[in-house]
Amino acid sequence: MTCNLCPELVASRKKIVNGELFGDALPSIVLIGEAPGVQENLTGRPFVGVSGDELRHALRMNGLPRFGVYITNVCLCHPPGNRDPKTQEIKNCVEAHLIPKLQEVQPQWVITVGKIAGQVLAGPKFSIELEHGIPRPAFFQGLSFIHIPVYHPAAGLHDPSKMILFLGDMTTAGNVVKGKVSPYPVVDEFAGKEKYEEAL
Ligand code: URA
Repeated sequence: MTCNLCPELVASRKKIVNGELFGDALPSIVLIGEAPGVQENLTGRPFVGVSGDELRHALRMNGLPRFGVYITNVCLCHPPGNRDPKTQEIKNCVEAHLIPKLQEVQPQWVITVGKIAGQVLAGPKFSIELEHGIPRPAFFQGLSFIHIPVYHPAAGLHDPSKMILFLGDMTTAGNVVKGKVSPYPVVDEFAGKEKYEEAL
């Protein structure tokens, strides 16, 4: 696959970093990061650097590879100097690559890693600080799935208190996928009633 939509990225990238499957099943989970880092740019594989090690370890610890995890990024090219991808680059890449991939995979769950990926799915008001670890039913481009936003492990590598939050979010993701935790808002026979009525 090639792509020439973003001139600055085309000039600076070494490799386009396509998504890849992690696990032993057809993917029922799509995991979306922000953009490839230095290692990813050299190898052409997503999440293979230091934060990738943390991420893949957390996926394994929570038993997620057996559900098939398609690991990809909002932006498939490494931004020069590790800067954030620009708005137009995000738009180009989401429209040309991410949306068609989501439509092909039709995931049951989508894990977004960090603020930028969360905003792509949930809109610009999405707050990683307020919404991480809260699974929600989501509707995106004609698809419906459970969106599970998690902190980025790179944030955790800079600030250990965020690593604890990232690991907790990944535990939640595992529990949601295994059906041990329901997404919010919970749809159940008591929906619309006050919880105290259950006891009456
Ligand atoms: N960080 C990301 O968001 N994606 C990668 O692929 C690697 C690091």
